[in-house]
Amino acid sequence: MTDVKVTVMRSSPEEGQEKPHYDTFTVNAKKNMTVLDALFLIVEDQDPTLAFRCACRLGMCGSCGMMINGRGRLACRTKIEQMGENILVQPMKNQPIVKDLTVNMDPFFGNWQKVKPYFVPKEGENTFAVIPPDSERREIIDENQDCITCGLCFQSCDAVAMRDDYIGPAALSRAYNLIADERDDAKQERLNLVSTESGAFGCHSFGACVEVCPKGIKPMVTIQKIKAKKLKSSFGLKW
Ligand code: FES
Repeated sequence: MTDVKVTVMRSSPEEGQEKPHYDTFTVNAKKNMTVLDALFLIVEDQDPTLAFRCACRLGMCGSCGMMINGRGRLACRTKIEQMGENILVQPMKNQPIVKDLTVNMDPFFGNWQKVKPYFVPKEGENTFAVIPPDSERREIIDENQDCITCGLCFQSCDAVAMRDDYIGPAALSRAYNLIADERDDAKQERLNLVSTESGAFGCHSFGACVEVCPKGIKPMVTIQKIKAKKLKSSFGLKW
């Protein structure tokens, strides 16, 4: 067991306290304890007003995204022993703070909605047509299927920070999944929707989305695939 110092950014814009300040708490850390465990200990023993969001505590729901030691991470998957004895915890960027470590994710999910993120079946076709797990068609989108919509790619993206209307890595990645799905009947519409300056062509390949994704997804790579498909489509080539 070691004592670690956890410094947390605090603010409460909705209660008129916009200017952030930092509180440091000492937590007695046990082996395998996560940053999320430490935040719970702080709430239980030191400051019950500390606000943060979580649900599954298993890296599945995507609700505990925050900045830990300057990088976007899931608090429930970040072990204290990997972070050192001084840990800085801040809310995600690119989204308004509700309170302390809790942000309003409307910008993220608003953009998610913009790409028509649902499968559109072809008229009269069996919408449950199975693509065999070992088929090449499945491999095209396999790597993107694990997105848990945590928003860490969105918060780390400088293109999002630079322009308010940029859709962002996660939503574009979702759009690509459907564009690449031959069963989908809205492929062309969706491709046109995301092949704009606020869509795929707004990506400057900064690459932070690839670095922070807790599921190993590479949105930046996927976005380049959207651009390639758009170019092929513009020249009347098969895409
Ligand atoms: S609490 Fe669900 S991903 Fe961390």
